[in-house]
Amino acid sequence: MGKLRPERVEWLASSHTERPRLFQNLLLFLWALLNCALGLSAQGPGEWTLWVSWTRCSSSCGRGVSVRSRRCLRLPGEEPCWGDSHEYRLCQLPDCPPGAVPFRDLQCALYNGRPVLGTQKTYQWVPFYGAPSQCDLNCLAEGHTFYHSFGRVLDGTACSPGAHGVCVAGRCLSAGCDGLLGSGALEDRCGRCGGANDSCLFVQRVFRDAGAFAGYWNVTLIPEGARHIRVAHRSRNHLALMGGDGRYVLNGDWAVSPPGTYEAAGTHVVYTRDPGPEETLRAAGPTSDDLLLQVPPGLQEGQRGADAPRDPSTRGAQVWSG
Ligand SMILES: *[C@@H]1O[C@H](CO)[C@@H](O)[C@H](O)[C@H]1NC(C)=O
Ligand SMILES: *[C@@H]1O[C@H](CO)[C@@H](O)[C@H](O)[C@H]1NC(C)=O
Repeated sequence: MGKLRPERVEWLASSHTERPRLFQNLLLFLWALLNCALGLSAQGPGEWTLWVSWTRCSSSCGRGVSVRSRRCLRLPGEEPCWGDSHEYRLCQLPDCPPGAVPFRDLQCALYNGRPVLGTQKTYQWVPFYGAPSQCDLNCLAEGHTFYHSFGRVLDGTACSPGAHGVCVAGRCLSAGCDGLLGSGALEDRCGRCGGANDSCLFVQRVFRDAGAFAGYWNVTLIPEGARHIRVAHRSRNHLALMGGDGRYVLNGDWAVSPPGTYEAAGTHVVYTRDPGPEETLRAAGPTSDDLLLQVPPGLQEGQRGADAPRDPSTRGAQVWSG
């Protein structure tokens, strides 16, 4: 059955107001009939149902996967729907109790003491990680020099110990920034998942100074919401960094801070200093507060680059995380 398009109906009704209502209705009826006939040989893809809600986590503790699915509704002659019928995401339950048997070990151990290789001999099985396919249940016969592959591991099994990826339907998938396994979605330079690098600006400042001044020079203000902050500095002096509250994070009040990692504006600021006159500051951001970069007077050159929010009034929205 074809669909009546509302705008088409409006047009018929408004342009023929003087015609008898019966005639109008007849026209509509014929038009609908024509649509029905066309509908029988409909082309194009079918339509997805809504997603069914996410399943429970596949594990009972620690990390697992959850899945949701939808169905494709197709009229005769329609093509399959575009897109995936299943989506998988990681789920994280409270950590497993210490000493709990890891998921893959458990799956191998199911074959312990069972005749499995076509003989009556039995073995104790432990995971074997040297085989090519990470998502097969490859188990080593303890005390022997062979392993056996018992097919795929269950969904939600880690691809290897400590790995980010988990096996889903025999494939090792890791989560994109949208949380979906295998989506491949990445954060753009501005921290937006799947973004096009267009919600922030690249700001670069070069500072040169040879003036005499009793206090600290303001090099630049790094605004709240900045990411990928890089500062390089070369002089006899040291860069100073002040938080939005007016307190120094680094090298303030004429005291020298050692190289290292400092907490400031909600991010880690990594400060390095060469034996020579070079020093650098780096922070991933996003920063939760303004940072003021300064240098004590003297001969110096400073440089910094950062991706700063394009429009300060919408900072909050642009500092997107995950
Ligand atoms: C965004 O910028 C990064 C680094 O400059 C680049 O690798 C990536 O392809 C860009 N993404 C888009 C969508 O332009
Ligand atoms: C540097 O900037 C701070 C904050 O904006 C301001 O209070 C201070 O007066 C400035 N110092 C100089 C030397 O311009």
